[in-house]
Amino acid sequence: MSKNAEARLAELFQAAKAAQANAYAPYSRFKVGAALRASGAIYSGANVENAAYPEGVCAETSAISAMARAGGRRIEEILVIGDGKGLCTPCGGCRQRIREFADTATTVHIAGPEGVRATFALEELLPQSFGPDHLRTA
Ligand code: THU
Repeated sequence: MSKNAEARLAELFQAAKAAQANAYAPYSRFKVGAALRASGAIYSGANVENAAYPEGVCAETSAISAMARAGGRRIEEILVIGDGKGLCTPCGGCRQRIREFADTATTVHIAGPEGVRATFALEELLPQSFGPDHLRTA
């Protein structure tokens, strides 16, 4: 990885970690942070749970909302951080939400508290995906 790419990834990691610290997860006790880069800016999000359990939102969805609200439409790379031994990969719904603003080659980094654990292309997490292009019939 080039020095530049490494520094950019470190920046994404720090932003996701800071967001994770503010996650509201009193029910699952599993705090997640996400940070993405779009048009040179970084947007972050955290999971925000609810006493009516299904109403909670994931960290990735929260970061995507922040990006869209600021006018961003293209995810260049995204990083998700969670505690625990496993890889905190995005849930199915979030994979599709990422897909809306990304393409099959977009990089998805999965991190733990110590750093990045794995890196995927979106295609690996959501193969044969349905995206905005599929709605073009002409
Ligand atoms: N969660 C995320 O925010 N992102 C993920 O990638 C996996 C799961 C949240 C949802 C819920 O608040 C908690 O983690 C436990 O599932």
